[in-house]
Order: sequence, then structure tokens, then C-alpha cells
Amino acid sequence: MKIDIISVVPELMESFFSHSILKRAKEKGLLEVNLFNLRDYTNYKHGQVDDYQFGGGAGLVMMAEPLVNAIEALQKNTTYDDVIFLTPDGENFNQKIANQLSLKNNLLLICGHYKGIDQRVRDHFITKEISIGDYVLSGGELGAAVMVDAIGRLLPGVLNDETSALMDSYQDNLLAPPVYTRPEDFRGWKVPDILLSGNHAKIEAWRHEASLKRTQERRPDILNED
Ligand code: ADE
Repeated sequence: MKIDIISVVPELMESFFSHSILKRAKEKGLLEVNLFNLRDYTNYKHGQVDDYQFGGGAGLVMMAEPLVNAIEALQKNTTYDDVIFLTPDGENFNQKIANQLSLKNNLLLICGHYKGIDQRVRDHFITKEISIGDYVLSGGELGAAVMVDAIGRLLPGVLNDETSALMDSYQDNLLAPPVYTRPEDFRGWKVPDILLSGNHAKIEAWRHEASLKRTQERRPDILNED
């Protein structure tokens, strides 16, 4: 899978993508992430990519031309399944969307800044608009990093234990159960006996119950989602 990202501050994401699980995904050739600096695609002086908004009001807007230059230049080499704009007024990102996107071959992510991007780019080039939560960030970069992480770890072969992504919270509309590791007794706080029993059927049943209980207590809203 390939994910291309257009940003005015690609440096913000560089370190993130060269560490973490994504480093391994890249080394194994399972995921390619390319960062593109929007300023490389502007014909305006001094690398200008934003301007005042028509109609007045505080805040700069990212201009259509540099964005379209960048998108069209990248589209010459790649056919994207989706061109995604990161924005607080987009659809809320969740595990289901991560699952769906992990099945695509090529994605282009556009990080906005300032007051947003010229609406005409959204109307004519963007196929999906995604928010990572109901709060406003100063740019889409953190959102892009969140998306690439959530998508990247789902690609077959990225995680060592292939089943572990399936056991994550939010898969099957359930939060993950509690987990324990050594020692069995820490300060008198004991690991539940069942987990030490070696009875896999009983352990699975216990985990399912614990997941259900946790979800009912914390996120009853996700239990009956599609
Ligand atoms: N850019 C600014 N705020 C954002 C958010 N909540 N999600 C995605 N991109 C954003």
C-alpha cells in the first residue's frame, strides 16, 4: 500500500514515520509513505500558499492553485483510490474507516492549515473528508499521522502476531479485555486464576465476558453499531 501526504510542514511527520510500527511496515515493503511539501508546488513568490479570505474575516485560507498543482502532479504517477482532506468538519475517523482504507492500494492525504483550504479544491478533487475528533487542531498533520498508524498496523504482516489486530478494541464493536503479564502476584494483586488455567475455551469465554462488561460500562454506544 502507498500513502502520499501533502503538507506545508512535512517535517512534523518525518520522525513519527521513521519510528514506530510504521518503520517496520516500510522495511518489510508493506507500506510506502511519501511526504510532499506544498511549497514545492506554488508559483507564487516566497513559497506563498495561503491568502486572505474573500468576504473578509480572520485567518488565511490555503489557495487552490498550489494544492491543485501538487495533486495533479502526483496523480500523473499514481491513481488514488481516495483523495482525503483532513478537517474538523469531516466524517469522524474510527476503526471501521481504518479497516476499509487498509484495503486500498493508494491514498493521498491533504493536510490543511490556517482557516482551511479553498472550497473549490474540496468540490473538485477531494473524495473523502475526515476528522480525527471533535476538536480543532492547528493542522491536519497529526490527523494524517493518526490515520497512517491506524491503517498501517492493519496491513497483513505488519504486526508480528497476525491475530492481534483482530483482538483490538473496536473490532467487533467491543473494547479489548484486561490483560496481564508477569508476575502472577504483584504486591498481593493477583492475576485472575482463569488466565493461568491453560483452558483456552474458558479463557476465551472469560475474555469475551470481560470485553462485554467493559464496553457496557464505558462505551454502550458502540455495542450495536454496524
Ligand atoms: N485539522 C484540524 N483539526 C482537525 C481534526 N480534528 N481532524 C483532522 N484534521 C484536522
